[in-house]
Amino acid sequence: MSIHITGFGTALGERMVTNIELETFLDTSDTWIKERTGIHRRHWGGTTEALATQAGKEALFNSNLDPEQIDLIILATTTPDRVMPATSCAVQYNLGLSCGAFDLNGACSGFVYAIVVAHSMLVGGIKKILIIGADTLSRVTDMQDRTTAVLFGDGAGAVVLENIPFGDNDTSTDSKPETFDATNDKMLLGWDAGVDGSALDLLYCNHGGYMQMEGQEVFRKAVRATVSSILTTLKRAKLTSADIALFIPHQANSRIIEAVSSRLGIPEERTVSNIDYTGNTSSASIPLAMAKAASSGRINKGDNILLAGFGAGMTWASAVIKWNVGK
Ligand code: UT7
Repeated sequence: MSIHITGFGTALGERMVTNIELETFLDTSDTWIKERTGIHRRHWGGTTEALATQAGKEALFNSNLDPEQIDLIILATTTPDRVMPATSCAVQYNLGLSCGAFDLNGACSGFVYAIVVAHSMLVGGIKKILIIGADTLSRVTDMQDRTTAVLFGDGAGAVVLENIPFGDNDTSTDSKPETFDATNDKMLLGWDAGVDGSALDLLYCNHGGYMQMEGQEVFRKAVRATVSSILTTLKRAKLTSADIALFIPHQANSRIIEAVSSRLGIPEERTVSNIDYTGNTSSASIPLAMAKAASSGRINKGDNILLAGFGAGMTWASAVIKWNVGK
């Protein structure tokens, strides 16, 4: 078997909000926001359910699958629409699926956690999983607080992962060895995931409240934890930075991305950034950046792609995947 990404979908909040618009009601400036974060605009609006449904629908369409063929949905989100039930239940219904569904809250690391969980389930025998990362952080942001209001955006990114048995996608006449070892063609080459619960108070949001963040300290921890997690993942995958064709990091701040990339020796041309037009979309940021890179031809079959997230918890997760895209 071989695990492939067979479809992508994306969605952004319906209203684009520029830095110039923020200047009209906050003590901030376009220059400060661009220089300190790399963000030029972000999109606000919609519910997590609506954005996840839109991205999921597009991913299903692009994978040429009928709704009944999906075996499971994993929705990575830290802004579910309700305390209960899981937002993935509504998304499952909206998409006309009949499979199981659950939410996974790993904050900004959630999509990488979801990839790791999904991959292990695919190796375990499930055939097709829809993974969606979706967040609507504008709904829990105090728009009078300039230290957070300029940073976050709403969005969703989705991928379909399929476990394709050998033969289904093989157009060659060579016969496969009967004793083929599935691990030879796995998609997930190495991963690491962790949490430092003692740092929980650096970034949190209580029920009915607004997000609270100690930005500088989160920044420092983000760089340290992301680099350390990636080094662990590379070691487990028996790879080095030089083997990474493309690095797709969580998009929280362009200075965090630059600091991590430079410590790892990964140049800008092998690093994906879309923070300029998305802002920080938490669980959605990596699949949105991945879809952008794939659609602009920056990823080739067989490439080693490095993913890394860091966020509230404080959580972190990184993974190297072998790019088996399409069927
Ligand atoms: O998604 C996962 C988690 N989130 C993150 O990873 C975010 C991590 N943190 C950051 O990205 C950065 O720390 C921020 C973008 C939040 C802040 O940037 P900074 O360079 O760390 O700024 P700072 O907090 O050190 O503040 C510098 C100055 C302060 O003014 P004084 O005390 O020097 O006079 C702030 O009050 O900038 C001021 N400031 C602003 N000025 C204009 C803070 N926010 C703003 C603003 N506009 N929006």
